[in-house]
Amino acid sequence: MIDRATIDKIYAAADIVDIISDFVSLKKKGVNYQACCPFHSEKTPSFVVSPAKGVYKCFGCGKGGNAISFVMEHEGMTYQEALKYVARKYGIEVIEKDYTPEQKKENEARESMMAVNQYAYDYFKKQLHQSGEGRNIGLSYFKERGFTDAIIERFGLGYCPAGGEVFSKEAIEAGYKEEFLIKTGLTIKRENGSYYDRFAGRVMFPVHALSGRIIAFGGRIMRTDKKTAKYLNSPESEVYHKSNTLYGVYFARKTIVEKKKCILVEGYTDVLSMFQSGIENVVASSGTSLTLEQIRLILRFTNNVTVIYDGDSAGIKASIRGIDMLLAEGVNVRVVLLPDGEDPDSFAKSRTASELNEFIESHETDFMTFKTNLLLEEVKNDPIGRAEVINEVVNSISVIPNSLIRDQYIKECSQLLDVDYSLVYSEVEKKITIRNSGKAGKEVWENKQRKERFLNRKYTERNTLAQTDSFSNINEFDELEREIVSYLLKYGTRNFYFQERNAEGKLMEPIALNVAETIIEELEIDQITLRNPVYKTIFEEYVRLWKETQEGVDIHHFINHDSIEVARFTVDIITKDEMYRPSRIWSRFEDDVISEAENLDMAVPKVIAVYKLKVLSDLTKNLFHQMENSANEEKTLELLKMVKSLDDSRKIICQKYSRIL
Ligand code: CTP
Ligand code: MN
Repeated sequence: MIDRATIDKIYAAADIVDIISDFVSLKKKGVNYQACCPFHSEKTPSFVVSPAKGVYKCFGCGKGGNAISFVMEHEGMTYQEALKYVARKYGIEVIEKDYTPEQKKENEARESMMAVNQYAYDYFKKQLHQSGEGRNIGLSYFKERGFTDAIIERFGLGYCPAGGEVFSKEAIEAGYKEEFLIKTGLTIKRENGSYYDRFAGRVMFPVHALSGRIIAFGGRIMRTDKKTAKYLNSPESEVYHKSNTLYGVYFARKTIVEKKKCILVEGYTDVLSMFQSGIENVVASSGTSLTLEQIRLILRFTNNVTVIYDGDSAGIKASIRGIDMLLAEGVNVRVVLLPDGEDPDSFAKSRTASELNEFIESHETDFMTFKTNLLLEEVKNDPIGRAEVINEVVNSISVIPNSLIRDQYIKECSQLLDVDYSLVYSEVEKKITIRNSGKAGKEVWENKQRKERFLNRKYTERNTLAQTDSFSNINEFDELEREIVSYLLKYGTRNFYFQERNAEGKLMEPIALNVAETIIEELEIDQITLRNPVYKTIFEEYVRLWKETQEGVDIHHFINHDSIEVARFTVDIITKDEMYRPSRIWSRFEDDVISEAENLDMAVPKVIAVYKLKVLSDLTKNLFHQMENSANEEKTLELLKMVKSLDDSRKIICQKYSRIL
């Protein structure tokens, strides 16, 4: 627990514009600042920061709060973590209390390890710049590789003397405990009790945590020796988890947010050379394949990632599977392949930032296309191989959480694979359904098929129920239309259960249907438009929003609507108590105490069916009226045919909704 006085100090120091600017690029607008909201995707800025009030508010998604809650929300931190983050930013000493003895001990151990790492960092740097050995061996090596003083300084590169235990001895003399030297892995203790420097004779790459503290080191050997590993890294410890760390993230985070993109390379020197050329949104996974934690770390800043591969990298195939994981986290992945024989380090050395950016931008391929082409190239025209490629691609697409992006990939990949869009689509859907529902997967899939059939059953293939003028008074439709619209507004996101009869007239398992989806699709299939202008506006806008968001439509759109009638109706609908029954078609339930919400299973299909039948009868009446006034026999026959087919439609509706009507 952070003590109260410290919390007060933190709040006093926290400058909301300064803090948010680390994550979002704010533009001054009068006394306030504006940006596109980091919490939901939008094209026009509705995120406003008021320095005077010390608050932020998004008028799009409604998120708002103060500097601390911004950090919590944006960085996924707890309150305590966010306080510490801000304290650190402003150099405030955090005084804590109320730790359990174990927590205290653990904290102290962590702090001691960090202190040892910080000492080592300073020591290795000093060695590199001030000792003869460091300058002759380490510094000249970095210079030979083309690194500037500025980049060497910025990344805190260093050198560990070759002697064997030079560093460890000095650290002990300086008062650092053996326990923490060993825990951080800087020192190895031999069985005979003597010390050995893990990084002896290596140039040092310190690894910074997001906070800027030193949590580990990578050390590169000087001589080329097949027997010894080229790089050695600090071991896993309480302060260093390799799988949670990305090299360079401390230096890159700000630019990643600004550029809305993270460039991912393989190694230490790749990051350094890119930075040296002026590209600062680069991090490295440090040789291992990406982990989920690393991906989530990137996702705090952006969901656009561009992975750079060496032209001749043998590892592409292997790492491609790892990238599926990025897709599953919703990352937008692109791939750049460097020319043969180049790695990001060598490639960046001879190029300026604008040359590099231009190269990246013109060579970026979206990952699915890249992968599909790569796999296809391998199998050429072998039909079995191609089937496997399709399967593999379907797999990758199916892990993408956003259905719009998925659909885009289905389109692109079905072209590349030269197979039908609908085939890839249904394979992807099948994978998703089965994966989401575990053991019951197959059954869920079949139910889903039934649902599709239900919603798309085109019983009026020949007729549409579209109508320009009603024959009857349009007020007769009002009650039903009002009800349809109020179900959308109140229960659009809910499901109801519908039970059909099979061909033998037996009741089948109920299927879950979404209220909005069902109402919208049922009306669209028959091209029915609502007659009442207010309801029609609401319905059409609801459909548009629903298709855009693919999920819940925000009722505030209607509550705050430009049309006062729409706004009034909406408020009316949502403030009516649950027991209120909008229309007389509920006479059957007059005495039952069933709330509207509980009744959706009945109410939704019923209102659809009754409304459709009403439209049908109006169309039919209209036809009879025309017949009465028709002198032409041929015309009359024509009209009779139309009446007959409307009657067929009526039968199909009645059959479909037989349980309810
Ligand atoms: N790596 C490692 N241990 C190894 C080899 C590699 O940790 N034994 C990690 C390092 O982070 C390294 C990255 O993998 O930076 C990429 O390896 P590699 O391409 O071999 O190294 P480079 O970065 O190209 O290093 P250099 O240019 O110094 O040879
Ligand atoms: Mn290299």
